[in-house]
Amino acid sequence: MTKTTPEVEQIKRAEAWLNAQFFERREIIHGLFLALIARLHIVLLGPPGAAKTALAEAFARVVTLQYWSTLLTRFSTPEELFGPLSLKALEQDSYRRIGAGRLPDAQIALIDEVFKGNSAILNTMLPVMNERVWFNDGQRLPLPLQLLIGASNEMPESEELNALWDRFALRYEVNYIQDPQSWDQWMTTIADPTSVQNIAPVTVDAGVIGHLQSLVDHVDARPVIPTLGALKNALAQEGMELSDRRWGVTVRLIRAEAVLNGRDQATADDVRAVVGALWDTPDQRTTVTRAVLGLVAPNELDALSIRDDAHELLRAVAEASSDEERLKKAGEAGAGLKRLHNDAMRLLNGAQKAGHTTNVIQEIADEIYERQANVLLEALEIDRGGAK
Ligand SMILES: Nc1ncnc2c1ncn2[C@@H]1O[C@H](COP(=O)(O)OP(=O)(O)O)[C@@H](O)[C@H]1O
Ligand SMILES: [Mg+2]
Repeated sequence: MTKTTPEVEQIKRAEAWLNAQFFERREIIHGLFLALIARLHIVLLGPPGAAKTALAEAFARVVTLQYWSTLLTRFSTPEELFGPLSLKALEQDSYRRIGAGRLPDAQIALIDEVFKGNSAILNTMLPVMNERVWFNDGQRLPLPLQLLIGASNEMPESEELNALWDRFALRYEVNYIQDPQSWDQWMTTIADPTSVQNIAPVTVDAGVIGHLQSLVDHVDARPVIPTLGALKNALAQEGMELSDRRWGVTVRLIRAEAVLNGRDQATADDVRAVVGALWDTPDQRTTVTRAVLGLVAPNELDALSIRDDAHELLRAVAEASSDEERLKKAGEAGAGLKRLHNDAMRLLNGAQKAGHTTNVIQEIADEIYERQANVLLEALEIDRGGAK
């Protein structure tokens, strides 16, 4: 049943390339592929300078789709999205827009500050997102749009925006790089002339995206219905009731995830694809993650909290204000990480025995192992420096 096709391999390579380029964006990068393959839309929420634009651009380049972007303000007019009125047409009393080079030509569109648009803009966006059509001089025209990426610094605040928010099936929060070691790596990447930034991007062949999109409807998602039922109950217990439309979107995402895993039948493991789709307020995000992982990969949930503990130990080392304190914290972190690595290995064994996917737990175990070695080296260096 699981067979990796050349198309799926291409996507994996493209994802890996983007992950090498963008730090701590793994989930969002996967979300971009999922949304594209499922033909749904995605919104990225976060502060300026967190690679929202850079990532959208790089993604479009990698999947070789026509990219266009704009930034909305309260004063934006439909002209900015759909182009100016044709003067020639006006002479004939018709209101035809020249859409070339704007949204009517775009396959991937990034709309920045997407919740800032006024009602005139909003009204044009809903048919764009729902049916991928626009209206030109009364004519309903199809759009080549594959994926709309919204970006915003804030959550939508007015009722009027609910419909727009709802059309973004996948929602992700973007933060600045959190892990000091990732940040160092990023600095090295942009400072080193031989680094990956300068290597031509991996690109996906023409036709691959369309092919994978066409497989989504053929995935049998019936095997995950019991898992979704349990998820519905788990969320209800947390006071979350989702619309039936949202559950419909959920099934679509699960099917797309199965496609990206080279399968024509969904498994419980594919249910993890819905984490980005089931929350409305940021505080629900953790609830949803816990509910989903609790069902499909309980050991992974524990491994994530082990990773948080590890990061806390490492932060204490990074934040130490003197060599003496640093040495002490490094010693503590060394011992703590050793214990956490053992815990992670136990979880890994458990997950293997239960037949769950283990790559995330494996990654966490490896990371802790590597960090432990680094922190011990660092302690040695401080010690030597002090002895000079
Ligand atoms: N996590 C990250 N990994 C790699 N590059 C990043 C990361 N965060 C920010 N950058 C870089 O910072 C710059 C600013 O990002 P930009 O896309 O303009 O941010 P935004 O659109 O969120 O305001 C870009 O050159 C981007 O490549
Ligand atoms: Mg930007």
